[in-house]
Amino acid sequence: MRYSGNKKNNDPTIPKIINKEEKTMLGQEFKFFNLLEIFKNREEVEGTGECVAVYDYTDFNMRWVEPPIPIYYISTLDEYGNSNVAPISLGTCCWGEHPWGRHYYTVGVQHTRNTNRNLKLNKECVISYANARQLKESTIACCPLPYGISEMDVAKFTPLPSKIVKPAGIKECISNMEARVIDQVEVSNTTIFVCEIVGMSIDKEALDKDRHSKYQLGIGGTDLVFEMSLTGSPARMNYGLIDQKRIMPCPSTIGDEKDWKGTFESWMLSELHRGRINKKEYKKLMLLNKSWIRNSDPVANGAVKEELTNLLRDMIWRPIKDNDYVRKNDVQARKEHNYVRNSVGYYDFTHELMEVTGKDAAKFLDKMLVGGVSKIKTTHAKYMTMLNKDGIIIDDVIVFRPEEDVYWVSTLKIDKMFIWFDMNKEDEDVSYREITSDKTMYSVQGPNSRNVLNAMLGKDITDQKFYTIVDNSIDGHPVKIARCGYTGELGYEIYCDPDDELLVETKLEECGKDYNIQRITTDVTTTSLPKEKGYVLMSDLERLNPLEVGFDWTIDWSKDFIGKDVLEKIKAEGGPSRTMMGFMIDDPKAALQFEGVITKDTKKVGRITCYTYGYTVEKVIGYALIDKDAAKPGDTVKIHGYTATLTDRVFYDPENKRMR
Ligand SMILES: Cc1cc2nc3c(=O)[nH]c(=O)nc-3n(C[C@H](O)[C@H](O)[C@H](O)COP(=O)(O)O)c2cc1C
Repeated sequence: MRYSGNKKNNDPTIPKIINKEEKTMLGQEFKFFNLLEIFKNREEVEGTGECVAVYDYTDFNMRWVEPPIPIYYISTLDEYGNSNVAPISLGTCCWGEHPWGRHYYTVGVQHTRNTNRNLKLNKECVISYANARQLKESTIACCPLPYGISEMDVAKFTPLPSKIVKPAGIKECISNMEARVIDQVEVSNTTIFVCEIVGMSIDKEALDKDRHSKYQLGIGGTDLVFEMSLTGSPARMNYGLIDQKRIMPCPSTIGDEKDWKGTFESWMLSELHRGRINKKEYKKLMLLNKSWIRNSDPVANGAVKEELTNLLRDMIWRPIKDNDYVRKNDVQARKEHNYVRNSVGYYDFTHELMEVTGKDAAKFLDKMLVGGVSKIKTTHAKYMTMLNKDGIIIDDVIVFRPEEDVYWVSTLKIDKMFIWFDMNKEDEDVSYREITSDKTMYSVQGPNSRNVLNAMLGKDITDQKFYTIVDNSIDGHPVKIARCGYTGELGYEIYCDPDDELLVETKLEECGKDYNIQRITTDVTTTSLPKEKGYVLMSDLERLNPLEVGFDWTIDWSKDFIGKDVLEKIKAEGGPSRTMMGFMIDDPKAALQFEGVITKDTKKVGRITCYTYGYTVEKVIGYALIDKDAAKPGDTVKIHGYTATLTDRVFYDPENKRMR
């Protein structure tokens, strides 16, 4: 039932191109992106390894498959013949005119992917168009399966043997293009593979429909996306009749809960938390993985491959309790959240630490950061941001002054910070170095944190003030205690020598016994706890200036700093046009898109920056970047079909009573 081969159909009844009138008939509207404008910051931040450029219209991410981005799978083989399948969206087909008259496909695959490695190695692949009903399969194919374990097997695809190349196609796909790599170009973190299509199988039924589609748009008219039709002359690239309303979330129940891709280990841990696998299965999976990674030869280590594949396939298609994972019902996360709110919890949360010293250390940091660093008293600390020249936040940090002549900058992006510091260092007498590995940091949070620490420390900390860092000791071992936190509760951080980790943990468990101290293992310390309190992560601040986030209080206007002129201009013109608010959704099953669009009366009014379930406020909560004139707290808005109410960003303890 399949049509195979690289033939063209020269049926004269099929139009060659879509003319303007037909576009209007389709009701297609085009949105123009001025790329020069969008990437105007690019040059300045190029050296920082990350493009912080503004791209304020995101309608697609990994958890979502939205038109008009065509999604196809690429099947490749590794050196042992293990098959690999990955969903890819970056790429397009093209064709050469006579005399070559051939079809090509350019495929963009990032360096880190197995697909990239296999394409360079074997130079063959099958490109198979995914369809809208394969959201779960494409999500599975995107999970970090152990290298060499076939997504084809785990996602339950049926291999479609190829006629010319070695990797197999996918029977469930509407079309399968057999291709050979003829060229490759390295662009940034991606390789663009130019593949020549040497054969193609198209579902016969779809091919018939293609010929009779109302607007003669080709197979694009019959399915979510299909760019290339062999029935046109010349073959066409088009997005066909794509229904923009068919925006569907991939199942949120697959993949790492924190960072949905994650690693194999973090993904399996997520499955354990969700209750999809039990502890015994978890251990088994980890062991099998180790054994398979050591030897990925499917012949020599075939039994392990088979067992691992079967276990993974069985696991991923298993329904979870209630048939759906709802964060509200995550027993472990709720338990740990409540320990911190009601008693005490601790976790190892070592940030990257930059030590800054030298005669001009404070002067230099004053230039680099918005806060008044030279005004920080010895043993005190301040929260602030670092901006680029356009006033856009590139990092948020805490600056500690643990000693008279020493500053510590606590960050999660130290590589970027080094580059930005190097780029802006002039003749200041300053040196900076990373000291992350010299220190381990434990965060101890909750109303009983002070009691626990007083029981284990050499010096009483009852009078230690908020945002100070003071020398102390545990059984004679020196530590520094900072009174800080990210949970909205009374809390402290212990900075110790890495050799003293066991001592600190033993002491925490011993002295915390009376308060039933809990080690926090889930992600509540970066989700429900801080988000109920209105605290941001750098991911909430991407592409924003501090005024939009309500961070005026972190800025020392009496000194100069990078980005100040832009912020002053914004203030002089009446302040930022957008502001960060909170939102609440009653439906606990709400699954939202990262940077999802927020509408009010069908008009776009902003986007979300994050969402989670708040176990104290008992609602889905999140932050929203809202156009000031378009909506205000109290307004009802829509986020991907869910009704939400805009609120203040602080959902819990707005008077800060808990932290005293
Ligand atoms: C819809 C969708 C589109 C994607 N597009 C690309 C892409 O264009 N380039 C890329 O390198 N990865 C892309 N990915 C991510 C890869 O599929 C993913 O990282 C996968 O795990 C890679 O598998 P591999 O390491 O086995 O090759 C996409 C994922 C999805 C779900």
